[in-house]
Amino acid sequence: MAHYLGIDIGTSGTKTLLIDESGKVIAEANVDYPLHQPKPGWTEQDPEDWWNATIKTVRAVMKKSRVSPDSVGAIGLSGQMHGSVFLDKENRVIRNALLWNDQRTTAECEQITEAAGGRKRLIKMVANPALTGFQAPKILWLRNQEPRNFSRLAKVLLPKDEIRRRLTGDFFTEVSDASGTLLLDVVKRKWSNKLMNCLELETDLLPEVVESEDVTGTLTAETAKLLGLTTKCKVVGGAGDCAAGAIGNGVVKSGILSTSIGTSGVMFVHSDEPQYDSEGRLHTFCHAVRGKWHMMGVNLTSGGSLQWWVDSVLRGLKGISDKERYAKATEEAQAIAAGSNGLIFLPYLNGERTPHADSNARGNFVGLNLAHTRGHMTRAVMEGVTFALKDSLDIIQSLNVPVKQIRASGGGSKNPLWRQMQADVFGKKITTLAVEQGPAYGVALLAAVGDGCYRSIEHACKATIQIAEQTSVDRKASSTYQQLFPVYQQVYEQLKTSMHRLAELQANE
Ligand code: XUL
Repeated sequence: MAHYLGIDIGTSGTKTLLIDESGKVIAEANVDYPLHQPKPGWTEQDPEDWWNATIKTVRAVMKKSRVSPDSVGAIGLSGQMHGSVFLDKENRVIRNALLWNDQRTTAECEQITEAAGGRKRLIKMVANPALTGFQAPKILWLRNQEPRNFSRLAKVLLPKDEIRRRLTGDFFTEVSDASGTLLLDVVKRKWSNKLMNCLELETDLLPEVVESEDVTGTLTAETAKLLGLTTKCKVVGGAGDCAAGAIGNGVVKSGILSTSIGTSGVMFVHSDEPQYDSEGRLHTFCHAVRGKWHMMGVNLTSGGSLQWWVDSVLRGLKGISDKERYAKATEEAQAIAAGSNGLIFLPYLNGERTPHADSNARGNFVGLNLAHTRGHMTRAVMEGVTFALKDSLDIIQSLNVPVKQIRASGGGSKNPLWRQMQADVFGKKITTLAVEQGPAYGVALLAAVGDGCYRSIEHACKATIQIAEQTSVDRKASSTYQQLFPVYQQVYEQLKTSMHRLAELQANE
């Protein structure tokens, strides 16, 4: 029996799992690493931490599963999207990688839009507007702000593709993750030489781009030995974590939409054709399904908002023990009625992507009064994140993209309160899977396809993914949310100027 490994290079840590041919998870392991925030709005990581976590988790999975190294046919790679690993010509990492939620590149986004001949022309070239998190503005930032580092630059890789380089020695990426660089002609599924020219960037800075299930190489002898695998083990293209997570949720055909609440929150919908939001609020990217696309909206701080609230604000307070602080906080929130008694939270703690594309948006509690308790505030945080996701859902629906089923996933959706809240805020039944393993599972399936175990990723999903549970809409709560949502949307517009001024003052500190 053949086995497949899925490795997901996440923001808080790396998760690796091993599946058999039937898609059953045999073993899994996680290793965490630090996130560096040298300045407000800056986020960085050391690629060496990702590599060490890869080694540790693969070895742990192989040890736990006791399968023969010979049986591991292929590895699929997934990872946080948009990050930039800058390499010199000796393949040495030049500086820490800038991440997807880094907000330092507002000026470079303007520079790109101008160089492309305006926002419309840019969207025509690469299907998306320039957003601070994307990879292209990071390359320009290096050129503008760290010219000495830029002069050493030979290659720029996405996080999971840096791990591929260390596994196989090859420079490749695949279409789903490449879409988030802003340098891919998303319709043609190849690099946009046109935009590279406008930006005066050499095309050989970028790796070769393939479809997600294509084999990009095999393990080097040194790596095979290090990981306890063989040099026959293939590595397939894999996918950015959003597309990988969607595959892990079976979102491989029209009509299925997935919501995911991890550090960020993602609304992801499959599309047979490339479709655009003319205002550029949603991302139009290649899917990890051969010849297909997807649209998605991203809230930058979803699970991240609850984590901030519970870990930084509630931690250490009376009645919140360190071990059970999430359970206790959500239990307090559960006891509060839908709508948090008129309290609204804007989850823009690190700026926002969809729908505002505003790196200077900030978090807010609006409507506090003396009757509010800690439970109201926790509930408002969770509701605010769910409203942020509804913003994306509404844009998707306004484009007439069919949404027949919503599948909830990610750490946040494991929480029954948050699942119910999603059903009530979206006004639609929510489906969850029997076993939800996220992006690592999606790319383990892509590895199985690349190794010839399944004819296509659609076949692999059909054979392995089962729906477990449905959460129905509570009509009363849903009607409360319908009244509250327009207020939530107004608050951003009304506070925008003040939020921007505060961000400016903070930057000057
Ligand atoms: C997607 C995005 C995030 C990261 C998080 O566009 O920026 O979901 O991929 O891992």
